[in-house]
Amino acid sequence: MSASDNQVRIFDTTLRDGEQSPGASMTLEEKLAIAEILDDMGVDIIEAGFPIASNGDFEAVSEIAKNAKNSVIAGLARAIHADIDRCGEAVKHAEKGRIHTFVSTSPIHLKFQMNKTEDQVVDIITDTVTRARNLIDDVEWSAMDATRTPIDYLCRCVETAIKCGATTINLPDTVGYATPDEYKKMFEDIIERVPNSDQAIFSVHCHDDLGLAVANSLAGVAGGARQVECTINGLGERAGNAALEEIVMAIRTRSDILPYSCNVDPHYLTRASKLVSAASGFAVQYNKAIVGKNAFAHESGIHQDGMLKNAETYEIMRPEDVGVKATSLVMGKHSGRHAFKDKLKELGFELGDNALQDAFRRFKDLADRKKHVYDEDIEALVENEIAIAGENTKVLSLTVIAGTGGPQKAILTMDVNGVHETREATGDGPVDATFNAIKAIVPHEATLQLYQVHAVTEGTDAQAEVSVRLESGGRIATGKGADTDTLVASARAYVSAMNKLEMRQQTGNPGALQAV
Ligand code: KIV
Ligand code: ZN
Repeated sequence: MSASDNQVRIFDTTLRDGEQSPGASMTLEEKLAIAEILDDMGVDIIEAGFPIASNGDFEAVSEIAKNAKNSVIAGLARAIHADIDRCGEAVKHAEKGRIHTFVSTSPIHLKFQMNKTEDQVVDIITDTVTRARNLIDDVEWSAMDATRTPIDYLCRCVETAIKCGATTINLPDTVGYATPDEYKKMFEDIIERVPNSDQAIFSVHCHDDLGLAVANSLAGVAGGARQVECTINGLGERAGNAALEEIVMAIRTRSDILPYSCNVDPHYLTRASKLVSAASGFAVQYNKAIVGKNAFAHESGIHQDGMLKNAETYEIMRPEDVGVKATSLVMGKHSGRHAFKDKLKELGFELGDNALQDAFRRFKDLADRKKHVYDEDIEALVENEIAIAGENTKVLSLTVIAGTGGPQKAILTMDVNGVHETREATGDGPVDATFNAIKAIVPHEATLQLYQVHAVTEGTDAQAEVSVRLESGGRIATGKGADTDTLVASARAYVSAMNKLEMRQQTGNPGALQAV
């Protein structure tokens, strides 16, 4: 079952390992939108969350499970009965559900984190994999910190998990420590030495602490693994996980030496990247492989000359293959609702009636203020609409008095749970005054950790896309806002971060995962 076929299963963990990255928390609506695109693009398994972590996580996994059309929906569970049972409850709604349970196996984790002996951990594997398997047929077991686990002991753990019914065995490089040769050899050794290894599919799961996550993942596949765990934009704990778009395009582009296939349709990659960036508030670096703004931009004269003669001189992939569209002038203020809806469809967005109504109103407003409305403008607007859907606190209007004369003053009206509130505030500059006005309406203790602005398109009338990250009591949330007025975008981003923080406080989503 492991290396005998060349089909590589793509397991996306953006909504679990990705969301664990501090500040990347997403709302239910955002998670549903991301899961939908992952399902449409052909991702084989979507890890939708960690159901025991909070009611919010449980609800997200259950809802995603109910809506999934093709993908297997997995939930994560520590090696604890309560975790496994809760996970089973959430994924049971899926046509194809999976329980993914894990326990640490490395000496350093056993000693300092778990205070357990090797024998005790083997007993835990027997008990918990059996329990999961009694709830569902599809069980994945992970050896946390596998790459720092002695191979003899790892063989024993893997054999036990398979014997108890695990159908997928994941051997993560949890701390991003492995090198490609080492990682490949680990899979070769395990598959060769574990007597029942042919009864499971082996999986790679790599973190990018040394920038080797994608290289290690491909090396693991060369060693016999046939499932790759990865995230859109490489979102994830610390330096992140292996980037799904890089894995998929490496397999497609270098099929001459990577003789594998996968089900993901790469045309969705750009849109998925934008959606995850909007939802998580994590901007994609300009020079990011595949989905960065500059990934297909050829600036130097010699490159441009070659490109004009034959694109293949400098281009190993075509931008349209990953869903990059030529920037087009889309619509103006005379465009109607029908044309707007068609445009959204072309860009891959399908909104419910209320969200469509709001997005159209904001589009009209934008078209009044901005000469040319581009695809990117519509995308920023709709992503913003998705991000704020369901939020109870909203910016209604903002007037700012700024300039050399000072003091800068902001007059802000917000809708707070249906009640309209207006306050004035001054500050050290217009952004500070705006944020002070928000604090006057909704007093809170959160501190600002990041404030970032970038232009969605060219030109001085471009929309500004602002990211704001707030921290309160160890919890972090990032919000985004877009508008042609940078201050309005700033206020929206701040309020969105505030809403997410409040949601996190209510649902009690924990920080980093602790192995048992
Ligand atoms: O990195 C890791 O080890 C994990 C496990 C929970 C699979 O994310
Ligand atoms: Zn991980």
